[in-house]
Amino acid sequence: MTDINFIDRVAIVTGAGGGLGKTYALDLASRGASVVVNDLGGAADGTGADASAAQKVVDEIKAAGGNAVASHDSVATPEGGAAIVQTALDAFGKVDVVINNAGILRDKTFAKLSDEELNAVLDVHLKGAFYVSQPAFRVMKENGYGRFVFTASNAGVLGNFGQTNYGAAKMGLVGLNNVLALEGAKSNIKSNVICPIARTRMTEDLLGPLAEMVEPDLVTPMVVYLASEACELTHEVFSAGGGRYARMFVGLTPGWFAGKGTKPAAEDIAGNIEQIRNQDGYIVPTSIADELQQLLPLLQS
Ligand SMILES: NC(=O)c1ccc[n+]([C@@H]2O[C@H](COP(=O)([O-])OP(=O)(O)OC[C@H]3O[C@@H](n4cnc5c(N)ncnc54)[C@H](O)[C@@H]3O)[C@@H](O)[C@H]2O)c1
Repeated sequence: MTDINFIDRVAIVTGAGGGLGKTYALDLASRGASVVVNDLGGAADGTGADASAAQKVVDEIKAAGGNAVASHDSVATPEGGAAIVQTALDAFGKVDVVINNAGILRDKTFAKLSDEELNAVLDVHLKGAFYVSQPAFRVMKENGYGRFVFTASNAGVLGNFGQTNYGAAKMGLVGLNNVLALEGAKSNIKSNVICPIARTRMTEDLLGPLAEMVEPDLVTPMVVYLASEACELTHEVFSAGGGRYARMFVGLTPGWFAGKGTKPAAEDIAGNIEQIRNQDGYIVPTSIADELQQLLPLLQS
């Protein structure tokens, strides 16, 4: 088994004052990483702030002989994101790993969702990941090395009642990941997504009897692997929870081809909908080019 370490590596973990992020920061630091422990320290709905949340994790890392600094900036503004990356540069001189993990909830059914509830969630999850990752990406490109982990959710990839704002933000991160993975490829920058299932303050009221079986530190090894040099994968999405680790993906079925030069009508779609949906022989494209490669032979036939 490969020994995974982070000696001479610098990692930023956002939202690392508690929950899942704290477990990532502790594990990375125990493997030699210098860690920026970022957390605004607010409530689960994003209100309030408490600088001690990040500092406590830093104290724990240092007490165990590790290397870490605290950051209390919010990921939800361009200035906050830049300050988080600058904290890494000032303290440790570079950034090798960004784990975008900070998150809040403002659940509401779609019909009742307010603009404020939409914006608060998009700002932290989706725009926050842009604000932290973009300045970090520029540094990584210069250095020819980087690892990103974005935290999505099965609430977005699969759907969950009452979470249109959260689900859209989380699925937006999959789009960000897919493009970043392509843009980072030639600079040895890998980018992947985690969909965790874990008992934290965010989920403890939702998981019922499952709660005791999905400890956060069962997600940690998957994220630490994705953040490591050992990870050569990019552009992928993984589910992790309760000790089960699995890949999630967008597949493309072979579909139904109407025929060269034919202009089908809605009735033709209805008549062939089963073949359009048939999953036999599906592919998992990793770029638009992959999809076009499936289409081109049909058009040229
Ligand atoms: N727990 C699960 O089962 C689960 C499932 C799917 C996705 N997630 C995602 O995992 C991530 C971690 O969540 P968690 O379950 O550990 O919950 P959590 O509430 O314990 O952790 C989220 C952390 O993010 C911090 N944070 C919030 N807004 C911030 C901001 N603007 N700037 C910096 N930090 C901020 C919070 O203070 C908190 O410490 C989130 O993105 C969440 O959406 C969790």
